[in-house]
Order: sequence, then structure tokens, then C-alpha cells
Amino acid sequence: MKRVAVLISGGGSNMLALAQDLAKGPLSGGARAWVVQVVSNVPGAGGLARAQELGIAVATVDHRSFGADRAGFEEMMRAEIDRAEPDVVCLAGFMRILSPGFVRAYAGRMLNIHPSLLPKYPGLHTHARALAAGDSEAGCSVHLVTEELDGGPILGQARVPMLPGDTEQSLAARVLVQEHQLYPMVLRRFLEGQGGL
Ligand code: GRF
Repeated sequence: MKRVAVLISGGGSNMLALAQDLAKGPLSGGARAWVVQVVSNVPGAGGLARAQELGIAVATVDHRSFGADRAGFEEMMRAEIDRAEPDVVCLAGFMRILSPGFVRAYAGRMLNIHPSLLPKYPGLHTHARALAAGDSEAGCSVHLVTEELDGGPILGQARVPMLPGDTEQSLAARVLVQEHQLYPMVLRRFLEGQGGL
């Protein structure tokens, strides 16, 4: 049985896509994999209620209550995550930058989805930047999390066309549809590659 923890900060639509996909059936080797925990840095994040509706354990570690003490925040995050004993940690709309020490603790088994065709547009406001650049296409990337922000090995990408009159919102909505297909597919493949037998 493979265990997946998902870190969120908001609505958790990507978390939901992962949880629902894994619940559909076993990995190719026959083993089951589940999202066993959802951790948010934002109290009351919409994804927490969605996880609870699916019977998934949830936890909140409010980064604001730690102020500038990032080490204290990450120590609490790690304690919550490690209680679930995950094989893989998925960042899904998680909006905090993690320290090298935190990343090292999950090296090789922490994934993130980023709303751009990396290596283009690491960081924020990806759709606005793609529009401003006059790109003909946009998309999303799932990558291994390393100490370089949005810089780890890319595990999968999905592309969408730019359409006339596109706004940041219309583009984000089109990319999000692809995210919900890409992330579950890449996570399954990753778990199977981990010997998800
Ligand atoms: C999505 O655009 C995703 O690419 C980014 O966070 C946004 C919200 O994700 N990482 P979710 O609905 O909270 O999964």
C-alpha cells in the first residue's frame, strides 16, 4: 500500500483530482495507493473540507502563527506530515517556499505542479507572463521538488493553446483542466516506478 500526503493552501482542486484518481483502482503492479493526509498552511482552506468529505485526515499548520520563525513552521509541518508516514508528498497549490532542509527531508519523493511550461516562468503570475510574452501556448508541469524553486526534474507536462482574447483568468481555467489530468497520471506513474507493486 502506497501512502500519499498532499500539501495545499487553497481550494485543493488538484488534491481532489489526486485523491479521486487513486481511489479508482490499484497501481499497475496491483498495489493500492491512497491520499492519506492533507495538510494546509491556511486555516479553513477550501481543500480541507473537500478532503474531510472524502474521509481523508487533515491538519492545519498556520504559517502566520509562526511569524518569521520559518524553522518552527517547517518543524510543525514535518511533524504532521511524518505522522502520516507518506511514501510521496505532493504539493498542490501550496504557496509557501520550503527551505533546502525541508526539501532534503523528502528528496526524490516530493512532487509539485506548476502552472507553466517549465523551465519557462518559474515563480508567480505565470499566465500573465505568458500572455505578456505573446506565447502561442501555455500549460503546466509536474516536477520533482529540489532546492531550486520550480527547478527540479520535470516528470510530465501538458500544453494548451493561447486563444484570441485570452485573459489571465481564461487561460488559468484552461490550464487547470489539464492539471487535473496531468498530476494524477504522473503521480500514478511515479508510484509505479517506486515499485508500486
Ligand atoms: C493551480 O493553478 C495550480 O497550478 C497552482 O495552484 C493553483 C490552485 O490549485 N499550483 P488548487 O485548486 O488549490 O489545487
